[in-house]
Amino acid sequence: MNTLIGTDISAARHFLEAGHPIGIPTETVYGLAASALSPAAVARIFEVKNRPTFDPLIVHVPDAAAAQNYALHWPETARRLADAFWPGPLTLLLEKRDIVPDLVTAGLPRVGLRVPSHPLALQLLQTLSFPLAAPSANPFGYISPTTAQHVFDQLQSLIPYILDGGPCRVGVESTIIGFEDGKTVVYRLGGLSIEQLEQVAGPLTLQLHQSSNPAAPGMLTTHYAPRKPLYLGPIDELKERFPQLRAGLLTLCPLPQKSADILCISLSSEGDLNEAAQHLFAAMRLLDQSDVDAIFAEPMPETGLGRAINDRLKRAAV
Ligand code: TXA
Ligand code: MG
Repeated sequence: MNTLIGTDISAARHFLEAGHPIGIPTETVYGLAASALSPAAVARIFEVKNRPTFDPLIVHVPDAAAAQNYALHWPETARRLADAFWPGPLTLLLEKRDIVPDLVTAGLPRVGLRVPSHPLALQLLQTLSFPLAAPSANPFGYISPTTAQHVFDQLQSLIPYILDGGPCRVGVESTIIGFEDGKTVVYRLGGLSIEQLEQVAGPLTLQLHQSSNPAAPGMLTTHYAPRKPLYLGPIDELKERFPQLRAGLLTLCPLPQKSADILCISLSSEGDLNEAAQHLFAAMRLLDQSDVDAIFAEPMPETGLGRAINDRLKRAAV
């Protein structure tokens, strides 16, 4: 299959209506999208991604009104969060309506819903008569794509079209929230910070490492891994521990230049954690494709998007 990259909404729509998964931009990462109401189209997503069918997919809708069609009950906090943060990097897990195929939710009782904050994605969703199921557009287990080229590099010939919306503004996946026994639970740290969420939802309960238990919401621990071994820790300590490795470095701020370092990527010259999140996955890909033996990554401060970055680095680390 020939894979085209473009900005043509009607071409994107044409392929989706024919049941093909395509690449779509969002503000977080690129998605591999197909009609969420067509089990056959959703099955193609799992095939193209090589993803186990026990790992459910997020359903993307154009606005909160459309989301009502797929979720039965809206706790008061869910309403407030949707009002405050949609469109945006927030996924709400809510009790699903029967119209959502079981394949989308992997047989779980809740559906993940999100309104992406990206002009092309929203334009596309508004022209369609169905919502879009979309996981990140990477082969299962690899780093999520943040440009159309990243999607092309890994899924070319498997999908007919990639809608090019430029580099993703947020750079890490959406924050996933659900509601249990009156508590607001965070299942995945992501592009919406805990601090921002707490201003609207009050205190949160974190349940982040459900790992590979398919019955539990959340994600598998093996996500986001580059092929090269990634070690997480203070760079100087890692250099002492592994003096024999030719390592590429991933840091927040630029390091004072030392000629001995082969390759060093700083995520933000000013130490801005939003900018760091934006650059994280592209930097990991670059290091993975370079000729270093390993990647040494330093932990970020545990505030704002630093938490989500650290979560992704931990999952990528050996
Ligand atoms: O930012 C994002 O969320 C991106 C863009 C494309 O929207 N999507 C994304 O999808 O990251 P994915 O499939 O790579 O990660 C979604 C995670 C999965 O680990 C899945 O286990 C969890 O969300 N999830 C989705 N639906 C769920 C459900 N019904 N119940 C429990 N967990 C769910
Ligand atoms: Mg993913």
